Amino acid sequence: NIIDWSSDMAEKGGFKHFMLKEIHEQPDVVKNTLMEFSEIEKVVGKFSKFKRICFVACGTSFHASLVGKYLFETLLGIPTDVLLSSEFLFSEGALDKDTLVILITQSGETADTLKALKIANKKSETLAIVNVLGSTATREADHVIYTRAGPEIGVAATKTYVCQLVSIYMLVSAMSGNDKLLAELQKVPDHMKQALENEDHIIEIAKKYKDANDFFFIGRGFSYPTALEGALKLKEITYIHGEGYAAGELKHGPLALIDDNVPVLAVVPPGESHDKTLSNIEEVKARGAKVIAVGSSKDEVLKSESHDIMGFDGDISEMLSPIPYVVPLQLLSYYISVERGIDPDKPKNLAKCVTVE
Ligand code: G6P
Repeated sequence: NIIDWSSDMAEKGGFKHFMLKEIHEQPDVVKNTLMEFSEIEKVVGKFSKFKRICFVACGTSFHASLVGKYLFETLLGIPTDVLLSSEFLFSEGALDKDTLVILITQSGETADTLKALKIANKKSETLAIVNVLGSTATREADHVIYTRAGPEIGVAATKTYVCQLVSIYMLVSAMSGNDKLLAELQKVPDHMKQALENEDHIIEIAKKYKDANDFFFIGRGFSYPTALEGALKLKEITYIHGEGYAAGELKHGPLALIDDNVPVLAVVPPGESHDKTLSNIEEVKARGAKVIAVGSSKDEVLKSESHDIMGFDGDISEMLSPIPYVVPLQLLSYYISVERGIDPDKPKNLAKCVTVE
């Protein structure tokens, strides 16, 4: 066979954009990141003394931190705060030796996060979870955990997000000795592959909703950060207004904005928050909204309540769902972007790494 690839396509591994290539690399880079577990085990002994965790990050890394908060509090009972790097200096007064400040940054060079690291280093111990080897954050933090996502070219973070999540899950597994969670993590690449196999179905959904001006993304508990990340991807690469909301907060304001022009994407894995999010779906449907759900393919109630569903066949616990469940959301934004004639790799006004405060 003659391979008819331009050099540009070869660089993108045959994919139309780096973003699509990077979305497809996720099962493999998750496997690579899982191999870092032994490195994490070597350092966790030093973390058992901390009475408080404080995550600091920007953008997508901030959403990974939110999942971290739920994990630390659920599995370890350690009070955990999540702060935006640009807001961190206002919380300096609460730092002490009993606090571990965890900075999450793909690039290790984001100006706001580096500033926060400087402040944190004065009063607390710091741990940086970073993708880029040798970056400033890796040199300045007391401890470092590397994600193994490889270079990410697309401005919108995809594979680095899931690897950050895997690192946090491994950290909490190691600190809590939770082998069950660790075993479940090994199955994540297969769950992700399943989402990637459903790409054609997601393209159809993208075509259906590409002309919307506003979207809501809702979820509870472990699905709330997923909703925020789905909305961020939409804003970044489609220029559609996407708002991520805790499903339980809808009735405290945004319900007033819902009508038949505002599609609602609901993140609804089986588990504790499932039924409550379903009642939120009923509320938005009563106001005319079309509902796109992400959930289990076996969930007949969810299927009958939503207009479109991006489903998973495997049994994925609610706690682990943030990793595979973000994949259909990334693909949906990617295909809406392409449908709208935008280059998802280079969204206007945005930079891969923000080096100004
Ligand atoms: C920029 C990028 C985002 C990223 C954020 C934080 O806004 O466009 O994709 O999430 O910076 O970057 P960091 O390298 O610190 O994770």
